[in-house]
Amino acid sequence: MAPLTASGLRVQGALRVPGDKSISHRALIFSALATGTSRVRGILPSADVTSSAGALRALGVDVPPLSDSLEITGVGLRGLSAPITDLDCGNSGTSARLLAGVVAGSGVTARFVGDESLSRRPMRRVQTPLEAMGARVETNAQGGLPMVVHGGGELHDIEWNNDTSSAQVKSCILLAALCGGVEATVREPTRSRDHTERMLAALGAEVWVNDGAVAFLGARALAPLDLDVPGDPSSAAFFAALAALASDGEILLRDVCINETRTGFLTALADMGASVTIEDKALRSGEWIATLRIGSGPSLRGVEITADTIPTLIDELPLLACLAAYADGETRVTGAAELRVKESDRISAVVGNLRALGATAEELPDGFVIVGSRPTLRGHVVTHGDHRLAMAFGILSALPGNAITIDDPDCVSVSYPGFWDDLRRVVR
Ligand code: S3P
Repeated sequence: MAPLTASGLRVQGALRVPGDKSISHRALIFSALATGTSRVRGILPSADVTSSAGALRALGVDVPPLSDSLEITGVGLRGLSAPITDLDCGNSGTSARLLAGVVAGSGVTARFVGDESLSRRPMRRVQTPLEAMGARVETNAQGGLPMVVHGGGELHDIEWNNDTSSAQVKSCILLAALCGGVEATVREPTRSRDHTERMLAALGAEVWVNDGAVAFLGARALAPLDLDVPGDPSSAAFFAALAALASDGEILLRDVCINETRTGFLTALADMGASVTIEDKALRSGEWIATLRIGSGPSLRGVEITADTIPTLIDELPLLACLAAYADGETRVTGAAELRVKESDRISAVVGNLRALGATAEELPDGFVIVGSRPTLRGHVVTHGDHRLAMAFGILSALPGNAITIDDPDCVSVSYPGFWDDLRRVVR
């Protein structure tokens, strides 16, 4: 088959994408629980991270407004106070699930609420292990928010086998054990992102990790953090995809976290035929960072992604689907049913939008098939308020000839407030 027509897109420039969202949430939580004053530089000042900051304030921690250089004095592992307001987690599953663990171990009671999207997302996945540890947790009839976590009782040690790989569930259990003074072992089918275990170990907790399990064996107190938050690989992915789609030019992405639990999209991009070079690797604040130099190859080709690699690119799958519309042949993603319970049902939303724009796409129960066929896409994207859908289709909207409008471009503020400005900066 002849390669698909060159896109005609020209790109050039260097970007430093904002701080990693997962690490930013954890930086706030661990600073709050540490003994002493933590220093965090480059935190992501987005809506989701602001939700974690607000919830921690309601729990009695003096968290200043998010800024590039943040100092937080922790209250220690037993120092949280009972909130007099609901903990409003907005759109943020990470805030709700990680803080549920913190509250369960802290002897306080809190009610978690969120926006419409978060209220539909499953919370039984944290309720069940927290109850197995001895906490009392109430969710609504559908197993979602509002959720009340009653601290107060003694927690006990837990060994938990998670049937899906989820860093949020794993972190919830580890945080409950940390705050409740007990031990926890969590096993999962494929290792999910490991920022929680890395930070715990760096702050002096006893944590053991092997391929299938993480064991937390206790901490008397947490040392304060001194942390530079690296650039978010899930944000960098949008510009990596843009560069891969270009007919001309390259994009440099500086200071990006290349933790191996997060690099599945870069691997997929290279497998699709894009030019991906990783330069200036360095270990900073316990995480590997690098500069990514991304350009297009002669043409892109489809890839197959299966269950074993899904956790390493879970948040990038809507973007991969969009990119696949411009790759020769078929792209098939399976083992990704988790996408249905993200900020939106990302399988149905990405396939529905691609089809409406004129691409060839099909839903699978646990993934999708995209056939790269039509370089010209036209129409209106319905994001369901999902930031990653807005940005994935935003990348397609930059291709010459496409005429794509997006219903809620501002929802990018959940993870990448300056996304549209950065897009304008690198498209020539
Ligand atoms: C996250 C873990 C992932 C990811 C989410 C952030 C985290 O969710 O999709 O955007 O910070 O722990 P799951 O752990 O539920 O897969």
